Amino acid sequence: MDLFDAIKTRRSVRKYLDTPVEDEKLLQILEAVRMAPSWANFQCWKFIVVKERATKEKISELSYVESFFSPLGYKANPAKKALAEAPVVIVACADPSKSGVLWDQHYYMTDLGIACQNLMLAARGLGLGTVFVGVFDEGRLRELLSIPLNIRVVGLFPIGYPVEEKKDGPPRKELEEFVFHEKYKTT
Ligand SMILES: Cc1cc2nc3c(=O)[nH]c(=O)nc-3n(C[C@H](O)[C@H](O)[C@H](O)COP(=O)(O)O)c2cc1C
Repeated sequence: MDLFDAIKTRRSVRKYLDTPVEDEKLLQILEAVRMAPSWANFQCWKFIVVKERATKEKISELSYVESFFSPLGYKANPAKKALAEAPVVIVACADPSKSGVLWDQHYYMTDLGIACQNLMLAARGLGLGTVFVGVFDEGRLRELLSIPLNIRVVGLFPIGYPVEEKKDGPPRKELEEFVFHEKYKTT
């Protein structure tokens, strides 16, 4: 698939067929992660591949944070079922000490954001669907997956073959709303 097609047609996919994800495709996705740029090329990421059904179900249970969802009126993360039902869940983690901090900007999040976009576009290019799940109980997830305290969990990615081809995603802002020429505009 052409890169721009992949960028344009990638959607958050939360329903998957039972069809397993081939190991070769998983490897291609992880290779795409591996090639991502990072702060000083430190590659602070750690990725956990989860296939055990019982573990995926527990991860799914941990995809809710009351203080985040209650004010929005959600009773569950929209991706909760996806985490339990996807053939594979990839847990994206970072070691912040292996990335940079400058002017209070913590670049491990940038490193992981780029690596995770590679993951999502590679999945799209291989005919797979995924969604970035950013709301979860990090402490209990750490316990479940034996993740040390110095490692941050950044995102969860259920991956599988999409039940249906989604067409349009939620609307995006027009370019005029966020692209400025020569200088920032506040009005
Ligand atoms: C950092 C981040 C966190 C997200 N967390 C969640 C989440 O917890 N649950 C969920 O269902 N979707 C989550 N999403 C998916 C977004 O809702 C989705 O990308 C956005 O609505 C645009 O839709 P699209 O991906 O189909 O283009 C997250 C996306 C990002 C980038």
